[in-house]
Amino acid sequence: MLNQCVKTGLTLTLICAAFTANAADKLPNVMILATGGTIAGTGATSTTTVGYTAAKIGVERLIEAVPELQKVAQVKGEQVFQIASENMSNEHWLKLAKRVNEVLKKSDVDGVVITHGTDTIEETAYFLNLVVKSKKPVVIVGAMRPATAISADGPINLYNAVALAGSKEAVGQGVLVSLNDEIQGARDVTKTNTMTGNTFRAPELGSLGYMVSGQAKFYRSSTRKHTSETEFDISKLETLPAVDIAYGSANANTLAIDAFAAAGDVGIVYAGTGDGSLSTPVRTRLTELRQKGIHINRSSRVGNGPTVRGGENDDDKTDFTVSDTLTPQKARILLMLALTKTKDSKEIQRMFYTY
Ligand code: SIN
Repeated sequence: MLNQCVKTGLTLTLICAAFTANAADKLPNVMILATGGTIAGTGATSTTTVGYTAAKIGVERLIEAVPELQKVAQVKGEQVFQIASENMSNEHWLKLAKRVNEVLKKSDVDGVVITHGTDTIEETAYFLNLVVKSKKPVVIVGAMRPATAISADGPINLYNAVALAGSKEAVGQGVLVSLNDEIQGARDVTKTNTMTGNTFRAPELGSLGYMVSGQAKFYRSSTRKHTSETEFDISKLETLPAVDIAYGSANANTLAIDAFAAAGDVGIVYAGTGDGSLSTPVRTRLTELRQKGIHINRSSRVGNGPTVRGGENDDDKTDFTVSDTLTPQKARILLMLALTKTKDSKEIQRMFYTY
């Protein structure tokens, strides 16, 4: 339409301009909240794809670099943080979630995109999946190559994320992660490769769909409750209960769990071997810590499959909970939020089977 306008006379140009403005009015309004990461990273050369500096480029430049965004949404940007995502903390999450909830309450916002480092993108996505109080789309996007690299993936990922956040298809799907033309659900997605572009997978459970030339194509939905269906409310919280993860291996000892307990943790997620198995000294100490009031969640370092209640431990007797199919890093998030509501292990276990 714009091309036709330029070729024709003044009257038609004005009509065309009005038509174009009208078309823009009909585009969805998408707010981009920027937090840093490789998508905003710069390297020394165009071939630097490792050893670059994350979180350098501001949100306005990220938007300017993708003029095609104007075709799919009316976009505004806001810099919430400028950090590499390994520095994402519980306090950052609370601040981000409150801002997302504020923004989504506005009648003139149809969806939110969050630009984020890929290292902890899955954790932020799952946290928001549990605490955002809206059915409007929230899409988290990152990049595996810095903005200065040849074939940087940030611009196309951002384009797809904005299109997805403005789409009707994404409404009510929970928080989504989109990179590499794929749509992943927050609960099941995880980073599976330290450097390749197709690193984000929901191993075995599967991705939700694809972005095809800016069109969202969904094939599945998460069956677990999320966003406006959850019981969690972070609106008045300034901190989250202290929960850490200990990692199982051969020769497993109690040094880490003892340190966590001494530091005042109220919950420990244990990433056990296999189906969340615990060595005898670890099982004994975790049982003692549970008796002292610390909540123990048994998870698995394997990355696929459920950690089964009563399988490798008598969880009823020791009063532990199990993480179901959540990875240890996501079990930590759910245990923290659960502990803002209750200290009852049966209730906490229910939450692990609900979310
Ligand atoms: C980060 O997570 O901030 C750095 C790595 C990345 O974004 O890919």
